[in-house]
Amino acid sequence: MSDPIMFIPRMVEPKGINKQAIPNRDKIREYCFDDEHDVRVEEQPLIIEHPLLLYPGSGCDIFHPLLHVEQLFPSLQKITFHFIDQDNYLAMIKTMLDDVGVHFAQDKQQLQFWWHDLFVTLHFQIANAFSLTLPKHHIYFEKSFTIMKEEFCPEFDERVLDALHEKGIIISDSDHSETFHTKREGKKIQFI
Ligand SMILES: C[S@@+](CC[C@H](N)C(=O)[O-])C[C@H]1O[C@@H](n2cnc3c(N)ncnc32)[C@H](O)[C@@H]1O
Repeated sequence: MSDPIMFIPRMVEPKGINKQAIPNRDKIREYCFDDEHDVRVEEQPLIIEHPLLLYPGSGCDIFHPLLHVEQLFPSLQKITFHFIDQDNYLAMIKTMLDDVGVHFAQDKQQLQFWWHDLFVTLHFQIANAFSLTLPKHHIYFEKSFTIMKEEFCPEFDERVLDALHEKGIIISDSDHSETFHTKREGKKIQFI
C-alpha cells in the first residue's frame, strides 16, 4: 500500500527561471500514489504550438498534468496551464516545484518554469469553476472532480466541450461521463 502523501506548504522564494534545474523523478514519486507516477499514454499529434490546458478543481496537483503532457506531446516546447480552484494552492505548488528541484519565476498568481525542454506558464485562478465562463482551451484536464460536478453543476461537461478546441483533447478520470462520450464530436478522450 502507498504511504500517505504529506502536503505541507512552506515559504519558497522564487529562484528565477532556470532550464538547468531539472525535476528529480524520485522526488516526484513522493508526491504520487504508487499507481499514478508511471503515466502510460499514447503520443498525440500537436494541435497547436502553444496550447492552453484547463484544469478546474486542480488543487495543488501540478505533477499529473505535467507527466501526461510530456508523454502525450513529447515535442511540445511551450504550454500555458490555467488552473482553477476555489482555494488558493499556489504556495503548495511552489513548495512542490521547489522540492523536486524546479526553479520558477512568479508574478502574482502566475508561475513560469522549465520542465525539461517544455516552457510552462501557470496561471492559478481562485474561483468557483461552476460560476465562470470557461476560457477557450486545447487540452482539458480533470482528476477527482466528478462528485463536485455531478452534485453542483451537472451541465459542466457540456460547458467544457463548448470551450474546448474542435481538435482538443480531454484527459480525465471521469470515464463514465455520458456527455464526454456522446457529444465530444472530433475531440479525443484520454482516460486516466
Ligand atoms: C478531491 S480534490 C482534487 C484535487 C486534484 N484535482 C487532485 O486530483 O489532486 C477537489 C478539488 O476541487 C476543488 N473544488 C471543489 N469545488 C470547486 C469549485 N466549484 N470550483 C473550483 N474548485 C473546486 C477543491 O477545492 C479541491 O481542491
